[in-house]
Amino acid sequence: MTISKKLKKSMEQGSWIRKMFEEGILLKSKIGADKVYDLSLGNPIFEPPSKFTQLLKEYIEKPTAGLHRYMPNAGLPETRSAVAKNLSTEIGLRFTKDDIVMTCGAGGALNIIIKTLLDPGDEIIVLAPYFAEYFFYADNHGGKCVVLDHDSNFMPNLSMLDDVVNEKTKMVIVNSPNNPSGVVYPKTVLDELGIIIKNLELKYGRDIFIVSDEPYRKIIYDDTSYNHIFSSHPNTIVATSHSKDLGLAGERIGYVAVNPNNENKTEIIDGLTFSNRVLGFVNAPALMQHLITHLQSETVNIEQYKINRDFLWENLTEIGYEVIKPQGAFYMFPKSPIEDDLAYVSKLRENNVLVVPGSGFGSPGYFRISYCVDDHTLKGSIEGFRKVFRDHR
Ligand SMILES: Cc1ncc(COP(=O)(O)O)c(C=O)c1O
Repeated sequence: MTISKKLKKSMEQGSWIRKMFEEGILLKSKIGADKVYDLSLGNPIFEPPSKFTQLLKEYIEKPTAGLHRYMPNAGLPETRSAVAKNLSTEIGLRFTKDDIVMTCGAGGALNIIIKTLLDPGDEIIVLAPYFAEYFFYADNHGGKCVVLDHDSNFMPNLSMLDDVVNEKTKMVIVNSPNNPSGVVYPKTVLDELGIIIKNLELKYGRDIFIVSDEPYRKIIYDDTSYNHIFSSHPNTIVATSHSKDLGLAGERIGYVAVNPNNENKTEIIDGLTFSNRVLGFVNAPALMQHLITHLQSETVNIEQYKINRDFLWENLTEIGYEVIKPQGAFYMFPKSPIEDDLAYVSKLRENNVLVVPGSGFGSPGYFRISYCVDDHTLKGSIEGFRKVFRDHR
């Protein structure tokens, strides 16, 4: 075998999202793309705001000297200042550029955080349902993920946290608005998590960080408010990106923000900056940093995602599916009408509807629908959802 056995195994376990993606390609080539309703991927369909395109043109037509050169590993000072200013307004805490490191997306952000904080063998608590890549990210840096289960509203079972934390725990990853459930954790849940973690830090005599992975922070609906993590615990770090809120997933631009009140923040920022360098990211893409400096208060058309959410939720509940109405992100996580989510997803696939089994997110018995899709795909999928539901009633 040429490639490492360990990597080969990881690739085989892979991710369900990838598997569905590949099956989708196969099905589309067999019966035609317009007959397959692919709701498996979280790839934003709406274009970035018009201000992005306008700025991009300006930078291309009148490039400033050194636009494409290396820069400090933490990113352009003016970009970090713009991010800090926007966060200060949004959150009400005083951030400066020295609390920010620009990254290659939220994925890059999580990897530099994990590399900075974990020693080999350390553990990360992930809250189900979770983004499956966390397991690979932890493994990249010699860490291991341990799962904390959820209740019927997809809220973490915090009363069980004591059972999964031990002397090796270094981090808890929180993802709200959540992929795959679309729920937004209320402030009470974040505060309770902070209190429990503080007590566990005392018990084990070590820092335990709460890392908030929040690329969907600005995609929230109705009167739901975004609850930031920083007031819940001093050892808090945000990992985020503009993949979803500005529709720039392919451009790999994001950032880390460290709690400005953390007493070790300089050491942490230095560690993150070094990790950005030695993981080979070096720095976040230069042109994107220039552009997003001017786009901190912009978003894609979130109203359109809300229209999709309402359409899908109304249709699924009318058919009879049990599904919590998402408050954010662009995913829905209905209960599978039969216990075996893999079998149900496969029945949907036989009816040309592609979704991802909940097992891939640590929550068997559910399945994930991604509604960041065009109208044809969204509307066309309903017949398949109805037929398979009736067949299994
Ligand atoms: C919960 C969550 N975290 C992180 C990421 C990675 O985002 P990025 O494209 O910014 O690396 C995603 C992407 O889908 C996600 O859903």
